[in-house]
Amino acid sequence: MKIGIIGSGHVGLVTGACFADLGNDVICMDHDKRKIRALLRGKVPFYEPGLTELILKNCAQKRLQFTTSIKEAVHFGTIIFLCVGTPPRQDGHADLSAIENVTKAIAANLKDYRLIVEKSTVPVKTGKQLASIIRQGLRGKVPFDVASNSEFLREGQAVQDFFNPDRIVLGVNSKRAEQLLVELYQPFKAPIVLTDLESAELIKHASNSFLAMKISFINLMSQICEKVGADVTKVAEGVGADRRIGKAFFNAGIGFGGSCFPKDLLAFTRIFEKLSLPSRFLEEISRINEVQKSNFVERVRTKLGKLKGKTIGALGLSFKPDTNDMRFAPSVDILNRLKAEGAKIKAYDPRAISEAKKVLKGIQFSKDAYEACRGVDAVLILTEWREFRELDLKRIKKLLKRPVVIDGRNIYDPEVMKKHGFHYYSVGR
Ligand code: UGA
Repeated sequence: MKIGIIGSGHVGLVTGACFADLGNDVICMDHDKRKIRALLRGKVPFYEPGLTELILKNCAQKRLQFTTSIKEAVHFGTIIFLCVGTPPRQDGHADLSAIENVTKAIAANLKDYRLIVEKSTVPVKTGKQLASIIRQGLRGKVPFDVASNSEFLREGQAVQDFFNPDRIVLGVNSKRAEQLLVELYQPFKAPIVLTDLESAELIKHASNSFLAMKISFINLMSQICEKVGADVTKVAEGVGADRRIGKAFFNAGIGFGGSCFPKDLLAFTRIFEKLSLPSRFLEEISRINEVQKSNFVERVRTKLGKLKGKTIGALGLSFKPDTNDMRFAPSVDILNRLKAEGAKIKAYDPRAISEAKKVLKGIQFSKDAYEACRGVDAVLILTEWREFRELDLKRIKKLLKRPVVIDGRNIYDPEVMKKHGFHYYSVGR
């Protein structure tokens, strides 16, 4: 099948490279000339395990190309995936200007039938709006369909998630669109949820909100655990063992970040408000997420006393492991607050330092975890990178000025930490 990808960011590149790897002919388009030039040299603008290899392989086999021309992409692909960003506006609604602009450009270049598919996360009813934009912009009578096929890829595991989906959601309003998408997804074993456009659009927002809710739920439990002396990891294990509930996305900590959960929750909340439906439940999920960060800062204050003149080591900056993405990373809020109270920060992250430098100012960045721990009054664990689980704890202990470890991701066993002589504090244990 011939595929055009509009927007070569995280979603677009993973989708394009993976579809090419399945034998399709794919062209990925982006208006950012520098990005496309870099991609043509095999340089991926962010860290995603396995993606560079996949791009190089499929470019070499001539199934994957790049362009800055939307016209070329529209003429090339029978199926056109919309993968441009839908970032939050000041008022919390999703900013649809990019997706609307590319849709106008697609309409201006349509010559024959094309299936235009939303991959970006969009508010319910966006598909209808896009179809109307295309109708208005068409030069002559050209058949087209708009469909929804949300992605459920996690950053850091996106390639693996693409090839092993739990389900494929197809929101279509014509037989032709259905046939094309079912044929495209024929190599996958996952169940297909075939539905109308609006339901498909809602599935994406509802899924992300539900996952965020699971995290906020267990974070709320961590608060009661701390008050009564219980262990939230055991509570999660016991509750999650019920198959109706499940263990995944049940790790308490300093809360969720990233480019999806915070923005999607907010956008979904605004949609409920706009439709005069109760939105407090969704708001509470976000509120608990903020409380986790404040409680963590408070814990640092209580354990260290006055922060002025203290030095704090921070391990992990990205919003989660295996990515260099700093968008809405809990580390940013936490470290900025500690810095504002006079603490000096030394931070290390295996991948995200160059991204972190753009959003965290006045912080010293270290070349490795041990360097970040040297001579500090406390170490904070802010992202659960695997290498932090494997640190030489004896060596860390010697490097610290005071043996205080405050773990926002519960990666160490409290008993082991005690044996090593640390004053160890984690979340909900
Ligand atoms: C999320 C969804 O998981 C994907 O299915 C979806 O496709 C994507 O958003 C999207 O909308 O594009 P992602 O943002 O990459 O993926 O990251 P997640 O792995 O979902 O983690 C989100 C945040 O939740 C991270 O900050 C992570 O540390 C936190 N988290 C996750 C917890 O605090 N506890 C958990 O148990 C799990």
